[in-house]
Amino acid sequence: LRGLAQAAIEQHARLVADFPSPGVEFKDLTPVLADAAAFAAVTGALAQACAGADLIAGIDARGFLVGGAVARELGTGLVAVRKAGKLPPPVIGVDYQLEYGTSRLEVPAEGIDFTGRRVAVVDDVLATGGTVVAATRLLESAGARVEAIAVIMELADLPGRATIAADLGPAVRVHN
Ligand code: PRP
Ligand code: MG
Repeated sequence: LRGLAQAAIEQHARLVADFPSPGVEFKDLTPVLADAAAFAAVTGALAQACAGADLIAGIDARGFLVGGAVARELGTGLVAVRKAGKLPPPVIGVDYQLEYGTSRLEVPAEGIDFTGRRVAVVDDVLATGGTVVAATRLLESAGARVEAIAVIMELADLPGRATIAADLGPAVRVHN
């Protein structure tokens, strides 16, 4: 994110050396969300990026922290894209690759009519892009149209944006 939201992130994020592995500097966003003004700046900027959507999809787990706030700000509905085994059946799911091993995201197969919904996917961090690409594919296989992906922070040394462009094409706007 840029502008006021970026300033809020710079001011409040906690930098942690050598986490999760040696040589990596981790930016912990927890204190950003705990500060009222910073949380408002971040969720406001995400909401702007998601303008036009009629359904916000927050990704398990940290995407939930901002997804609900963005949906309220825009006056849209909210759906949680959940990790495997959390939702009652029936579900539709998608498997995707992690750095080590695979993971699975799921949404309800009944009770939400995704057909024609204009969805924005919200998450905290864009790293390799695997998570948001999988969530987008899942929502589109359910019948939705994903128009935007919005994240608080993009890890610039990883090819998240390029992966999104290569896997999803230019139809999905990416905001950070
Ligand atoms: C983290 C982060 C993003 C994802 C980004 O989630 O919250 O969702 O990784 O990585 P990617 O772009 O390489 O896919 P993670 O699943 O580690 O944990 P969480 O349940 O705390 O959100
Ligand atoms: Mg996550």
